[in-house]
Amino acid sequence: YKEVNDYLNRKQLAWVNKDYCKSKNKIADIISRQEVNEAIEKNGKVVYCRCWKSKTFPYCDGTHAKHNAETGDNVGPLVFKE
Ligand code: FES
Repeated sequence: YKEVNDYLNRKQLAWVNKDYCKSKNKIADIISRQEVNEAIEKNGKVVYCRCWKSKTFPYCDGTHAKHNAETGDNVGPLVFKE
């Protein structure tokens, strides 16, 4: 069983998405233009996560900054604004 566990652990280390909806085979969030427009009207902008580390995925919660500081990476959100 050690070989199987080592194999699975190596595969999981390569995952970009560590914990969001892992029961699904593929994540494809669909967001309507109306939802985007309503969020922009309410908050002036809407910010979507592209690092897969946000606790409020698919929205950015700023966690990318911690990841970038720890790893030297340069990921950041997709921002829609007026
Ligand atoms: Fe993922 Fe900001 S938390 S891009």
